[in-house]
Amino acid sequence: MTRILVLNGPNLNMLGIREPGVYGSMSLQAIEELLQETAASLGVDISFFQSNHEGAIIDRIHEAYGQMDGIVMNPGAFTHYSIAIRDAISSVGLPVVEVHLSNIHKREAFRHVSVIAPVAVGQIAGFGAQSYVLGLHALVNQLKQ
Ligand code: DQA
Repeated sequence: MTRILVLNGPNLNMLGIREPGVYGSMSLQAIEELLQETAASLGVDISFFQSNHEGAIIDRIHEAYGQMDGIVMNPGAFTHYSIAIRDAISSVGLPVVEVHLSNIHKREAFRHVSVIAPVAVGQIAGFGAQSYVLGLHALVNQLKQ
């Protein structure tokens, strides 16, 4: 069975409380439940990981090597500057779909740059919790190619 890891970066554990006008009112747990249902309908196995620490995210990406078939990832603010996370993705060579709740391209200029995008299959941004659902569909579809 296809195995997908959903990886969330810093401050995403605060979803529901954190700037609901920007990120919506759903908690991360509710988003993960939604993704669990989506995974079941797509017939894939899904696991979840969230950390506020760059090194823990890098370790989890390394662990995914040989265990997972692909990653749906919201790197949070690390999107904009973590070369180390980008290098971890390149190191394991797993397909990554980058997702964002908000449309980073219509926000502050510093959010317009993603250092992750060049090593991702693609990016989905601006659809709230649905960005994750769309990202999961896109990744599963990609893995069938
Ligand atoms: C985010 C966008 C980032 O700029 C921000 O730092 C986040 C969340 C999003 O999902 O919209 O933490 O990745």
